[in-house]
This record gives sequence, C-alpha cells and structure tokens, in this order.
Amino acid sequence: MAFRYPVSRPSLDGRELEYVTGTINDCWISSQSPVIRRFETAFADYNGVAHGVACSSGTAALTLALRALGVGPGDEVIVPEFTMVASAWAVTYTGATPVFVDCADDLTIDVTRIEEKITPRTKAVMPVHVYGRRCDMDAIMDIAFQYNLRVVEDSAEAHGVRPVGDIACFSLFANKIITAGEGGICVTDDPRLAGQLAHLRAMAFTKDHSFLHKKLAYNFRMTGMQGAVALAQVERLDEILAARRAVEKRYDERLAGIPGITVMPPRDVLWMYDLRAERREELRAFLADASIETRLFFKPMSRQPNYLHPDWPLLNASRFAEDGLYLPTYTGLTEADQDYVTGRIREFYGVR
Ligand SMILES: Cc1ncc(COP(=O)(O)O)c(C=O)c1O
Repeated sequence: MAFRYPVSRPSLDGRELEYVTGTINDCWISSQSPVIRRFETAFADYNGVAHGVACSSGTAALTLALRALGVGPGDEVIVPEFTMVASAWAVTYTGATPVFVDCADDLTIDVTRIEEKITPRTKAVMPVHVYGRRCDMDAIMDIAFQYNLRVVEDSAEAHGVRPVGDIACFSLFANKIITAGEGGICVTDDPRLAGQLAHLRAMAFTKDHSFLHKKLAYNFRMTGMQGAVALAQVERLDEILAARRAVEKRYDERLAGIPGITVMPPRDVLWMYDLRAERREELRAFLADASIETRLFFKPMSRQPNYLHPDWPLLNASRFAEDGLYLPTYTGLTEADQDYVTGRIREFYGVR
C-alpha cells in the first residue's frame, strides 16, 4: 500500500541528476568512476576526517571496518541490544561473536554496562548512534583506551555526527539522511586502515593485478551512478540536516502534552522522529487508515533468532520495543503535512 505520508522519502532535488547524467555520458559507471573519489573526499572533508572509503552498503561498511581492524574468529565485539540487526550481523560475518549491552533511556548503548561485558577476547566496541542520537562517546573512548579496544561507530543513521572512533560507518540506503539508493562509506583518519578498507572492498587485488589474492575479501564496490548521487547529496548535507531539524522542532511542539504520547530525548541529528505511544497497535492502524505510515522500534538483538537469549524480556530495549514507533520524517515534509499527522494523533487520543 502506498502511503500519502510514507516514513521516508529521499530528497533528490540538487545536482543528483546532473552528476548521474555526467557519469553515464563519460561512460564511467563502474567503481573506477572518478566521481566516487570526489564523493569520498567530500564526505571525509565534511566529517573533518582524512579518508573516506565508499562501498555497497552500510552493512558492507561495518564488515569492512571490523575486518580492517583485524576482528575475526575467537574475538568478541560489544554491540548494543537496541540496533538494526546489521550491526550484529557484521560482527558475525567476520567470524567474531557479538556481545550485547542494553540501552539507556535515550536508546543508545548504556555506557555504565559496557565494562561488565568485557573479557580477554573483547577486541572492539561498536557504538550505534541510533535514530541520530550520539552515544556518550567520551565515556566509550575512555573505556576503549583503558581496555585497548578498537572503536567502530555505526553511524548508519547519523550523518552529521562527528566521528571520533577508529572507523565510522555510514549507510546510504534510500531512507537514510543522505542516500545513493544503496551504498555505504567508512571514514577514518588512519591511512593504513583506509588502505585496508579499500583493499578488502575490492577483492584484495594487488596493484600489479597478478591475480594472487592473499586474503579472503569482498566485492563491496559502489557504482559510478551511486557515487554521483552520493556526491550531490553531500553537497546538500547541511541544508538537509537543517530541514530535518525543523521537522523535529515542529513535531516536538505539536506532540507536547498529548496524554498517551511520550516524546523522546532530543537527537543530535534527526534520522527518524521516534516516540512512545499507548495503545500503539490501534494508533498505527488509525494512522494507516489516514494514509500515514509508521514503523516499529527495533527489536533487541537477544530477541533475534540468530542471537536468541531467554532474558530478552527483561531488557530495557524490550520495554521500548513494546510501545515505540516512528513517524514520517523527511526533508520535504511540510508544516501542513505535520499538522495533518499530529492532528490525527490528537484525534486518536481525543485531544483537541
Ligand atoms: C543502525 C544501522 N546499522 C546498519 C544498517 C545497515 O545499512 P544498510 O542497509 O545500508 O546495509 C542500518 C540500516 O539499514 C542501520 O539502521
């Protein structure tokens, strides 16, 4: 069913078409396209970081980051319970084991619970800036320093949050803050890591093209068309973030004081406008009838079939998973659209 108000809609009204057309006219459509290099540089510069390595998805970016840091079988990686399953899967793909830490009340990893999960096998920690809320990176960097852990930031939902870990990984899926349709990018200050990321992304080819591949690697390359769209998006990232900030402010204002709705703590950048709702399923059906799409919160990792743990009902993350949802959140959402969405929510709870 096509909703009049979907949860997300990409904003492609900058130079996306021009750059894609240029890429096609120049016949530079593969991962060798110079536009990818331009995107990598532009995105790294935006983040104040030395290197960007573009790839085929956010999941690929996380997998490359872990591999570049040497994470593999026998290692453990700390991952939050409250995240999209790709964070944990990336760890599993490397042969390492994800070890889960519950979330705090802002949905980010509870930094007070990380140390109790560290063992001699722990090699890295993966903070996830979920829904655009920056984790407590000062505390995480301190713990990482103390226990000699590497830090891979899952910034899939947080373009505009300044990276501080060894490698930060962004998704460019169509529902993300900026997009290439599908895609991802790793950023790092370390030239050696950047080299490893690029090497692993492209089947560990050697420069002399000898077809001797010394490592098990991947084809996680991005196409020229994706690079073209992504470059045009980075050029507008400030504008997109500002528009999303305005969306957040308007939702905050219009949803304040509705009994039945709990607004969530502010975000550092807005990916999705999340909230908690009494009678959530009824509300979702009511909104769907009004052509408004909503989505549920993530389910805790310990509830996923891959990682099932019987204690999942006791988690803080499970509480949020029970009544959390997010509303249509995109750049082109007008004030009138938001009035309509919040008007239907008020109507549902009997508030004028
Ligand atoms: C927190 C988080 N991590 C990782 C991913 C994976 O990104 P992608 O879909 O580009 O593989 C996503 C989004 O899907 C995400 O929300």
